[in-house]
Amino acid sequence: MTAPAWSVRRLQTVSAAQLGELASVLIDCVEGGASVSFMHPLGREEALAFWSSVAHATAQGQRALLVAEDTEGICGTAQLVLNLPPNQPHRADLSKVLVHRRVRRQGLGAALVRAAEAVARDCGRDLLVLDTVTGGDAQRLYERLGWVRVGDIPRFALMPTGAFCGTTYYYRDLA
Ligand SMILES: CC(C)(COP(=O)(O)OP(=O)(O)OC[C@H]1O[C@@H](n2cnc3c(N)ncnc32)[C@H](O)[C@@H]1OP(=O)(O)O)[C@@H](O)C(=O)NCCC(=O)NCCS
Repeated sequence: MTAPAWSVRRLQTVSAAQLGELASVLIDCVEGGASVSFMHPLGREEALAFWSSVAHATAQGQRALLVAEDTEGICGTAQLVLNLPPNQPHRADLSKVLVHRRVRRQGLGAALVRAAEAVARDCGRDLLVLDTVTGGDAQRLYERLGWVRVGDIPRFALMPTGAFCGTTYYYRDLA
């Protein structure tokens, strides 16, 4: 079996160059039609502002940020939101699992989710929650990896070009 063309690691701080590469991944996903909080077209300034806020939260320990890198730079990412209310110290939200279109369907999405689960365990979090577009590609990914479907909320958000989409909630009990 050949080794993957990318490697995954956790960032504790984010450099200006990494902010730019993360912005490029996010812009690529929105251009590709993913409903990940932003509308199309997503401008570079808006994408950089988003990642700057994530970098700040990461430096504060409020988020755990994972990146995958190949020879061109960052090609995928995932986050754990750790700053939850005081009565949920065992929990984290999995957010913004993003894979650049140039490296999709090679197992990177699965590797990012598995890496995020491992980081969650390291952080003492053994109950994870996420939501994703109902009917989207990511649902198969999470279900294959053992996430449990909770239910759908219709008309939850907008696709990047403006149509309504539902969201589906999942959890993963690592205990
Ligand atoms: C959802 C997403 C993260 C998946 O990333 P990915 O790297 O393509 O994920 P994987 O490669 O692990 O799996 C994707 C598919 O490739 C298949 N695959 C994995 N490795 C493969 C290989 N070596 N050869 C052929 N197929 C392979 C998987 O079986 C899976 O098939 P399926 O879609 O029919 O279930 C990616 O499509 C993405 O970033 N989408 C836009 C953003 C988004 O919607 N994120 C989710 C937010 S919650």
